[in-house]
Amino acid sequence: MGSGIAEVCARAGYTTLVREMNDELLGRGRQRIEQSMGAGVERGKLSAVDRDAALQRLTGTTSLADFKDCDLVIEAATENPEIKKKTFAELDQICPPHAILASNTSSIPIIQMATATKRPDKVLGMHFMNPVPIMRLIEYVRTLTTSDETLETARQFGESLGKRIIVSKDRGGFIVNFLLIPYLTEAIRMYEQGFASKEDIDIGMMLGTSYPMGPFTLLDFVGLDTTLFIADVLFDEFKDSRFAAPTLLRQMVAAGYLGRKTGRGFYNYSTGEQPPTGR
Ligand code: 3HC
Repeated sequence: MGSGIAEVCARAGYTTLVREMNDELLGRGRQRIEQSMGAGVERGKLSAVDRDAALQRLTGTTSLADFKDCDLVIEAATENPEIKKKTFAELDQICPPHAILASNTSSIPIIQMATATKRPDKVLGMHFMNPVPIMRLIEYVRTLTTSDETLETARQFGESLGKRIIVSKDRGGFIVNFLLIPYLTEAIRMYEQGFASKEDIDIGMMLGTSYPMGPFTLLDFVGLDTTLFIADVLFDEFKDSRFAAPTLLRQMVAAGYLGRKTGRGFYNYSTGEQPPTGR
């Protein structure tokens, strides 16, 4: 997600600084961005000149201290509240007083990050969708402390990236995952109970409702570990069986079948298996 966010910022004309934990991760991220921009050029979405200019606007660092002149920071660290709170507290010390601090978390309450800073009015959620360069939405999360001015400045920024903005209150799952996670876990339960094959469920949703991917293809794309993490956060917050993770999901994550990123999820890509297409 981090590389996708950096890509859309640089493509929109912003001087963009990316922080990673080490140089190897920075190199891998830059490679992903170059590949994605290359695909954008091939598909006629940006010119080679604009790609080169965007890449020039992108620099990397391993030190948060380099964020001392930033106007806006978008945190996309691993989904661990302690890491996020620590990062926000550090950013609060380093960044100029006017800077807005945003989190791309998909599930952790934004108020936890806001209250780790001395500028809770300038903190909000900016939840991007995967793949960031293609998906047109950013879901903003407003906490009890986010000011109107912060929301408005952030809205102008998001629109300048070419995205549509929706605003949610600071509640588990926000808008999209509150609806998406029960849909995905219901599909797993349907399959787990032998009600239908994964292929038929995928085809049903693609051809029956024009979703671009069926639920199992999407689960593999998003990551089974990510889905389980969000389901557990939602269940913890609402104590509602709608959000209870199916046993099969938990076991697949334990087995390391995390989806495309590990070569195997509901579909076994390592053996050449592919999800059905909608054609
Ligand atoms: N840069 C710019 N544009 C690009 C691009 C790039 N690198 N790569 C592709 N594109 C453009 C293409 O030119 C095309 O544009 P067009 O519609 O104007 O012709 C468009 O993007 C689609 O590209 P493709 O034809 O390659 O891709 P598909 O049509 O196969 O769609 C997909 C791929 C967008 C991934 C589609 O399958 C999809 O929308 N899947 C669902 C994704 C989804 O639901 N994401 C959200 C997940 S939930 C989430 O992220 C929240 C988290 O908290 C869990």
